[in-house]
Formats: sequence, C-alpha cells, structure tokens
Amino acid sequence: MKPAVLVTRATFPDIVERLREHFDVEDNPHDTLWDPAELRRRLHGKQGVMSHGSDRIDAALLDACPTVKAVCNVGVGYNNVDVEACTQRGVLVTNTPDVLTETTADFGFALMMAAARRIGESERFVRQGDWTKTGIFDMFAGPDVHGATLGILGMGRIGRAVARRGSLGFGMQVIYHNRSRLSPEAETESGALYVDKATLLREADHLVLVLPYSESSHHAIGAGELAQMKPTATLTNIARGGIVDDAALAAALRAGTLAAAGLDVFEGEPMVHPALLGLPNVVLTPHIGSASIQTRRAMASLTVDNLIAALGAGPCGGQPPSPVNAEVLSTDRR
Ligand code: DGY
Repeated sequence: MKPAVLVTRATFPDIVERLREHFDVEDNPHDTLWDPAELRRRLHGKQGVMSHGSDRIDAALLDACPTVKAVCNVGVGYNNVDVEACTQRGVLVTNTPDVLTETTADFGFALMMAAARRIGESERFVRQGDWTKTGIFDMFAGPDVHGATLGILGMGRIGRAVARRGSLGFGMQVIYHNRSRLSPEAETESGALYVDKATLLREADHLVLVLPYSESSHHAIGAGELAQMKPTATLTNIARGGIVDDAALAAALRAGTLAAAGLDVFEGEPMVHPALLGLPNVVLTPHIGSASIQTRRAMASLTVDNLIAALGAGPCGGQPPSPVNAEVLSTDRR
C-alpha cells in the first residue's frame, strides 16, 4: 500500500501527478483555506504532508494525527511548524532552501527600488488619470538607489544575494548586521561590511530585512528602531510578518520620519494593518517574494523529493535533500 499524503494548497498538476506515482494523495485543487479543525480531519491517518506557511503544524495537530512521519514545508521559512514538537515525536521536517535564493533577492531589490523610486504612487497617479500636465520637474522624486548605503538585517543566503546585487550591480556600500558575522571570504564575496544594529539603522539609506522569524526577532523593527533611521530612508521587509511592528511603521511613514517602505509580508497576513493601506508611501505585495514560475516549480519539486525520501517511497530510499531536523533520521521512533 502506498503511504498517504496530504497536499494542503493547490500546486502544479504535474507535481500532484508525480506525487501520485508514489503516494495515495489527497490534494486541494481549488485552494480552499482549511481551518485547523479541517486540517486535522484531513491529515488524520496520513503519513506525510506537503504543507505551506498558512498551515499551523503544532503539537496538538501532531498528537491528533500520530501516523504523520514527515512535514515537508514548501518554503525556506518554517515558522509555521513547531519543529521541537515534531522532533520530540520523531517527525521529520523539511524546507526548500537554495532554490529560491536568487528569485527572492530579485524581488527584495525590486520592492526596495519601487519604494525608493515611488513606483506604486506614480503608477496609481497615471492609472487614475491624474497626469494632466507634463514636465513637472520634481514629480515623484525619491532617493537614489545606486551609490547609496544598503543595510541588510539578517545575512543568510538571501541576505547575501541581496548584498551582491547592491555591491556589484548598483555600486552601493553594503553594511549588514546578523547574529553571527560572515567569514572574511563571504564578506568579500558579498561586498558587505559587518556593523552593529545601531549603526545599521543609523547609516542605511535603504534597509532590507531578511532574517528568519522567531520569538527573538519579533518586532526587531519597532518604534525605537524606526526612530533611529534617517527620515530619507526606506525599509523593505521580505522576511516575515511580525519582524516589523506594522502599526509603528505606519505611524513613522505617516509622520514622515521614514520616507517609504516596501512590504511583502505582514503581521497577521493576509490581513494588512489598515493604517498601511491608507498610506501612499508604502508598496504592498501579497507575500510573493519567491513567486517566479521557475522557482515555484523548483520549490514544489524539491518538496516532492523530500517527501519521497522521508517516507521511503522512492525506488532506493535515500536522504531527504533538505531536512530541518536531520537528527530525527537517526532515531528509532520513525
Ligand atoms: C519562504 O520560502 O519562506 C517564502 O516566504 C514562502 O513562504
């Protein structure tokens, strides 16, 4: 009998077909949003799940679904999964690193440039028919990106890819802050200089957030941090909602103590803080940082590879390519 897996969100049809070669699959072709009770009901009796950031995988769910052995999350971030609870129960967790690095860095750069060069505001202006006079000299003038100081908070793979774009492509001075400092070789390759957080906030013309969400990064950028930034600066969040205090950010943007922001992620998404929705100087996108066609396919495909290896469903088994809690693979609770 094939192992049973649940696919919680709609994905490419050929990905589902590939899963069906190895598993008894329940998928969600109409992309219905399942509440926790519905997720629990559907996951019950399954061995694996292809989960997404919108699925909360916690101890209560695992206890209600004790047959689950693999939680294969589509995304590099996995703050929707209680990894400790999974590890305690011998459940393997996997994610999708690497395949989305460059695409997400492209998007972060695009969002930062859109905020700085006021692309959202000016696009709305044209679309609404407000462009009635040509040649207004300082119309939608914003700060330069090239040659400016790029600040990066969080310097993992995506942070380094953003840094390379800034240093190599745009002649920016790149400064970063991270829990741990990069090796000298990685700093040289990224063209980035390590600074403390206060210096980062004070000196960045454009600050990009690329750190994982955890209890310790909750509101890493709040009113106090925003007050330390230049009033001409921009802030871009492509990491996770909750890293920025969205209410404090809206207040700073409204007061003009920060020039502009680009946000792809939000506290409580898909809800967006109403104060942000009413502001002209923030570009808002619906968590699409890794959403290029090629990368979304690569993420889905890597997740299938992880599921096949995790549930021993391939012709020769093997190691899952990207385990989060690899220690589980050597326990006998599986
Ligand atoms: C990720 O990969 O973590 C993206 O944010 C998609 O969830």
